[in-house]
Amino acid sequence: MPKEKPVSFSGIQPSGNLTIGNYLGAIKYFPTYSENYKCFYCVVDQHALTVRQVSAELRRCTYETLALYIACGLDPEKNTLFVQSHVSAHSELAWILNCFTMFGELSRMTQFKEKSAKHADNINAGLFTYPTLMAADILLYQTDVVPVGEDQKQHVELCRDVAVRFNHIYPDTFTIPEPIISQSGARIKSLAEPTRKMDKSDPNPNAVIYLLDDRDTIVRKFKRAVTDSDTCVKFAPGKDGINNLMTIYSCFTGLDFAAIERDFAGRGYGDFKLAVGETVADALSPVQAEFRRLMADKAYLENMMKKGAGAAAACAARTLAKVKKKLGLVLI
Ligand code: TRP
Repeated sequence: MPKEKPVSFSGIQPSGNLTIGNYLGAIKYFPTYSENYKCFYCVVDQHALTVRQVSAELRRCTYETLALYIACGLDPEKNTLFVQSHVSAHSELAWILNCFTMFGELSRMTQFKEKSAKHADNINAGLFTYPTLMAADILLYQTDVVPVGEDQKQHVELCRDVAVRFNHIYPDTFTIPEPIISQSGARIKSLAEPTRKMDKSDPNPNAVIYLLDDRDTIVRKFKRAVTDSDTCVKFAPGKDGINNLMTIYSCFTGLDFAAIERDFAGRGYGDFKLAVGETVADALSPVQAEFRRLMADKAYLENMMKKGAGAAAACAARTLAKVKKKLGLVLI
């Protein structure tokens, strides 16, 4: 079937602790994405099983992730938003792709090496084959582009290699996907160490503004943000802390650096930090209200999951049937 638009596929880890870095770097642009691409957003709950989970938390996080993305403006009418475990084709294709992925290739994955060092007591086979499930996610939808952070580039490249290998044996099976690496996510830095990217799993909670932080917490964290010994609000090389705060303020207000410098001329860092905190809190408040409304309406979220799963499954089934046929698995 010819495509109306190129396909974009993103996998989202089930976690309710998105940061303003995630928001400004990616989520904010989702509405424009759906104009140019047919977009799939998949909450990858089965990937989450590669590390030990508390069942009730994983379940809650799955709902929260969906609610938070919708609250940020991801329109479930214009995008296919679904949960990985609701579409069984993902794990079926993952098995098949395991048989076309080399032990050596998986052993070389940086994330596998890092995660097995971190979870030395649980180096399970799922952690090792994580990239083949990710490749299945992507390839099932004949995906053209995969927006990911820099850390996932290696996995998308492995997915390409596997798809090329498969197509070489069984021509014209998969579209070969391209990664789109978002640079802008890395633009927002930690409030405690402003040379490092704001990271949602930073052990220091004061370094990170979460989308669900309340007003007082946001204002307090900005007040404590690390800056330099200067006092003048001015964007300049080496002033990483103030540059970061100006970037955040600019993203939320639309003002450029010159305008910010003018507005805060003669006022100190204290005034500026308070303004940034209040602006961010004001901007997040409608997102948080919508999040709470959605979380109180489980029936709506479940209905949306069902619709998403139905639409995704229909696409995925076509690719899976094609793959099985090519392989010589009997279709009945
Ligand atoms: N591995 C990705 C991450 O940790 C999540 C993911 C799973 C993904 N499947 C995907 C991303 C498919 C893009 C495409 O962020």
